Amino acid sequence: MGATEEILIIPSVLPADYSQLGKAIIELEEAGVDRIQWDVMDGVFVPNLTFGPDIIASVRKDTSLSFEAHLMIVEPDQYFTNYVNAGCDLLIVHAESTRHLHRSLSKVKEAGAKVGVALNPATPIEAIENVIDLVDLILIMTVNPGFGGQAYISTMSSKIRAAHELATLADHEIEIEVDGGISASTAAHAASAGARALVAGSALYRHPDGLKAAVSEIREIAIATIS
Ligand code: DX5
Repeated sequence: MGATEEILIIPSVLPADYSQLGKAIIELEEAGVDRIQWDVMDGVFVPNLTFGPDIIASVRKDTSLSFEAHLMIVEPDQYFTNYVNAGCDLLIVHAESTRHLHRSLSKVKEAGAKVGVALNPATPIEAIENVIDLVDLILIMTVNPGFGGQAYISTMSSKIRAAHELATLADHEIEIEVDGGISASTAAHAASAGARALVAGSALYRHPDGLKAAVSEIREIAIATIS
C-alpha cells in the first residue's frame, strides 16, 4: 500500500504567457491536466525569480484544479501561510532548503496544506527516510532546478525507484512525482521507475499539435509503460 497507480500530468506554468495568465490556466484545464504546478523561485535557492503568492492568487478564480507550489526558495517556513492563502493546497519543500526539514514539513501540515518533499539530483533518498510519515508526495528532480527546457537526467531512475519503494512501504498514500525534462521521449523511463505524477513544461508548450495533444501523448505513453 502507499504508492499511487494512476498517471497524473501536471503542467509547470513556467513557459506560459504571463501577460494572459488566467487564460493560460484555463487552457491548461481544457487540455486535461490533473493539477497545476507553480515553480516558485527566489533567486537564492535557484538562480531565477518567479511567482509570489499574489500572482497565484490572481488566477485562483480561473480554475477549480488544485494548485501545487514547488518551493525553490530559502527559508520556506516563512511563506507557507502565504501560499496556502493564495490558493495552493499542496506545498512541496526542498530537503536542501531548510535546516530543520521535519519541522518545516510539520509546519506545512499546520498551515492546512498537503505536504510534498523534493530532492535535487545530487541529494540521496536517505535525506527523507526519516520524514516519510509526514509527506503525501515525494518529488524527484530530474533536472537541476531553476529553469525549464533542460535535459532529463536519466541516472535519477534509481532514486525514483527508491522513492517508489519507500512509498510502497508507507502506511499511507504517497505520490511519486518527477519534474524536469519530462516529454514523450522520457515519460516511459520515469514511469517504469515508479513515477506516477509527471510535471512537464516545455514539452507541453512546444508540442506541434498543442497542449491537449501533448498531455494525452505523455499520459498514454506512461500508462502503456505501467500496464
Ligand atoms: C526547474 C523547473 C522545471 C519545470 C519543468 O526548476 O521545475 O523542471 O518545472 O520544465 P521542463 O518540463 O521544461 O523541463
